[in-house]
Amino acid sequence: MADNPDSYGKKKAMSDVSPNEIRVLKYLQGRGDAIETEISIEGLGEREISSAISWLESKGLIDVSREERTEYSLTDEGQAFLDGGLPEEKAMKILMEGRTSVREVLDGLGMNDGKIALAQLAKLGIKPIGGVLHLPEKPLLRTLEERRRFLEKIRNGEKQLDAEMLEHFRKRENVIREKKRVIRHVRINPAGIHAMQANSGNVDMIGTLTPDIIQSGSWKYTSFQRYDMNSRVERILGAGIHPISYLSRMVRDIFLELGFTEMSGHYIEHAAWNMDALFIPQDHPARDMQDTFYIDSSTDMGIEHPEVLEIFRKVHEKGIRGYTGWGYKWSREKASELLLRTHTTVSTIRYLYEHREAPQAVFSVEKVFRHESVDWKHLAELHQIEGAYYGKDASLASLKWLMREFYRRLGFTQLRFIPSYYPYTEPSMDLIVTINGKEMELGGSGVFRPEVTEPLGLKHPVIAWGLGLERLAMIYFGLDDIREIYQSDIDWLRSYRVKI
Ligand code: PHE
Repeated sequence: MADNPDSYGKKKAMSDVSPNEIRVLKYLQGRGDAIETEISIEGLGEREISSAISWLESKGLIDVSREERTEYSLTDEGQAFLDGGLPEEKAMKILMEGRTSVREVLDGLGMNDGKIALAQLAKLGIKPIGGVLHLPEKPLLRTLEERRRFLEKIRNGEKQLDAEMLEHFRKRENVIREKKRVIRHVRINPAGIHAMQANSGNVDMIGTLTPDIIQSGSWKYTSFQRYDMNSRVERILGAGIHPISYLSRMVRDIFLELGFTEMSGHYIEHAAWNMDALFIPQDHPARDMQDTFYIDSSTDMGIEHPEVLEIFRKVHEKGIRGYTGWGYKWSREKASELLLRTHTTVSTIRYLYEHREAPQAVFSVEKVFRHESVDWKHLAELHQIEGAYYGKDASLASLKWLMREFYRRLGFTQLRFIPSYYPYTEPSMDLIVTINGKEMELGGSGVFRPEVTEPLGLKHPVIAWGLGLERLAMIYFGLDDIREIYQSDIDWLRSYRVKI
């Protein structure tokens, strides 16, 4: 045999026969055919015997033939039939008490069992005539008794089963369960006898080292079973992290390294914080049912910091010094509506209201919801990379630097800003990244308008952004369709690679 790595592994494995294998060989010697599950050897469990047989087979020391067997067991319903009686048995009792109408049987057994009973009785020739069932002669009782005995046999795991009865219960839904099992028949062969004789000393070898063996020092006087370090083993696939979690952690790490604080919010928000706080007018198309999931609920916990409502009303109706506002009649009802947050900018603005002393640098990577038709680049449920910096030195220039720095740390260098519009920022910029010649819109950003900051007592500029995590994942992992991220394709989940 050539000394290549393949045959090397095999040759080594061949020459060693483990103590357990020797025991199995000894058992098989002079016994002819044995069925694996019937082999019993002192000190060896079922699994050790099974594993030894597999090894002996691969080493060519035993002959193995396989036989497929069907085993039967009771389902929960079958067990209940055995404990409390088959429905047709119970129905018979009712008939024998003289209650012979279909109604009485159904009432006595309940709808479910009653229907089964009637169907079974009909098959046995007892059919209702004018809503009344007629009691048959004796032989029926014997049939029912046989059915019950059959279920008992199944429960006891008996192997000899009456074919007709088996057929009957296999046709009935959900009474017995069928399981196919492969039974191995094993027989020692001449090579096995030879190996057993040559290695019989191995029975005393140490296969598994125990504390006992070390403490008593008995290891000094015995030999150890050799292990073949070159034999090929199956690759074990452990648990892995989902690509979105992976990317989300990367993003989180970057903002933490930049000195940002992580904030968190909640899925359900009042329109007041999700929209009004951000100066989104109450008739804005984004508030439409077409774009936003509203929630019907009678258990409203109340708006957080209700004092802001009056502030929002004033800003929307009249504006602030130097700015006119929207000039419509603001509605408290509309502000009180509950919805699934459409963006995490709601967390930003509330956080800043709660932390009014500058500077503040916050971020979150959390889920938002949009009533949107799903396609290759849109999801109705997605994560936003949200963040803001509040401070004297916040400016469009620092915003652009921050965005470039964030994406640079992820490996993207081709970033572009284009003018955009949001009711709460001025100026506003959208971010576009180019990767492998393709352009992808990643999200929005801007400087909060004074109508947003001033009324809430924020005295310095705020720069803010909201970026799509899944869009980023598409280019990060090289996907053509955003839906692939959540399709749970197991091959992809096992083998995804970063593509930049
Ligand atoms: N909230 C905007 C969106 O959902 C993104 C954004 C955040 C824009 C902050 C400007 C400032 O797309």
